[in-house]
Amino acid sequence: MLRRLHPEQPENFAFSAANQQWAEAQVTKYPEGRQASAVIPLLWRAQEQEGWLSRPAIESVADMLDMAYIRVLEVASFYFMFQLQPVGSVAHIQVCGTTSCMICGAEDLIAVCKEKIAAKPHELSADGKLSWEEVECLGSCTNAPMAQIGKDYYEDLTAESFGKIIDDLSSGKVPVPGPQNGRYAAEPLKGLTSLSEHEAGKPEYNASVELATGLADTVKRIDGTEVPVLTPWLGKDGTQAGASAAAKPPKAPAAPKPAAKQAAEAKAKPAAKKAEVQPQDVQQDAPETLTAARNGQPDDLKLLKGVGPKLEQTLNELGFYHFDQIAAWTPEQVAWVDARLKFKGRIERDGWIEQAAKLAAGEETEFAKRAKSEGKYDD
Ligand code: FES
Repeated sequence: MLRRLHPEQPENFAFSAANQQWAEAQVTKYPEGRQASAVIPLLWRAQEQEGWLSRPAIESVADMLDMAYIRVLEVASFYFMFQLQPVGSVAHIQVCGTTSCMICGAEDLIAVCKEKIAAKPHELSADGKLSWEEVECLGSCTNAPMAQIGKDYYEDLTAESFGKIIDDLSSGKVPVPGPQNGRYAAEPLKGLTSLSEHEAGKPEYNASVELATGLADTVKRIDGTEVPVLTPWLGKDGTQAGASAAAKPPKAPAAPKPAAKQAAEAKAKPAAKKAEVQPQDVQQDAPETLTAARNGQPDDLKLLKGVGPKLEQTLNELGFYHFDQIAAWTPEQVAWVDARLKFKGRIERDGWIEQAAKLAAGEETEFAKRAKSEGKYDD
């Protein structure tokens, strides 16, 4: 299968402050000169934050690790665990279609995906919340058929239980992962035949499910505020890891890009393409718009995470100039605006409404503070 950068890309990428700290801590795992070894964890974190790996995310990781962009693109395009196209804002569902799962009903699960999400893999559902694909064996053959959603395995599925999981995800619920037929883990279907003395007093869930429900990050984007912080070599508590990472000297400015890197970038640059969803396809109520900024003084919408200069221009062209306008959008109006932007689900995923409400009230957000201190978005 050809794995390439998606033809439509966001303008920028930045780790959240906490994820940035986490990423810098990862690099300390490796000896001087071997920082490139952190490429997979950093790409994975970027994907956990955004849902997929965009070109700006790949380049940002390359810059952090002082690697040529093409080297990081090679890693991202080689491993199927990396998504190179936008995925559902709530979840991307990976259905195992290999032998055990196939003979136990994977084809029925795929039919459910086609019916409830989209006809083709990697296509977003109509509301932008879900996407799906078929993957190779995920190593949970005893509990076939199964699907991976986020980090977690949903096992012993039937078309019915799987359909219910999809419905729950669509309605904002987080279904409990693990076996869905009452099985505790991977014991025989008819019950334990040995070690049954351990039955009494066992925890409610098996260890994987326990961890998943404990971390509560099953399908949500990872913003770095989760516990535990997984940098045990610096100390198991997040504060200590954060303090050590923060104590590192600031990174030297990036060296000019070598010619080969620039050529690779130019080659990898995707051609602009028309948005897939046309505004007229969506009939949601239009929010109130303005023909110009009040008193000729628009807010700096780039202080919203995920909004760069181009997106700000698009929002202005649509009639949005102020944070309070965005903060007032209803879910229907979010859908209306969403249909006019390149990437469905971005408003919800990046939390524009919450950010805009804070900024409109004169408060700061983490992202706005960082953007201002970096001087990146100053007018
Ligand atoms: S065949 Fe599906 S998990 Fe192995």
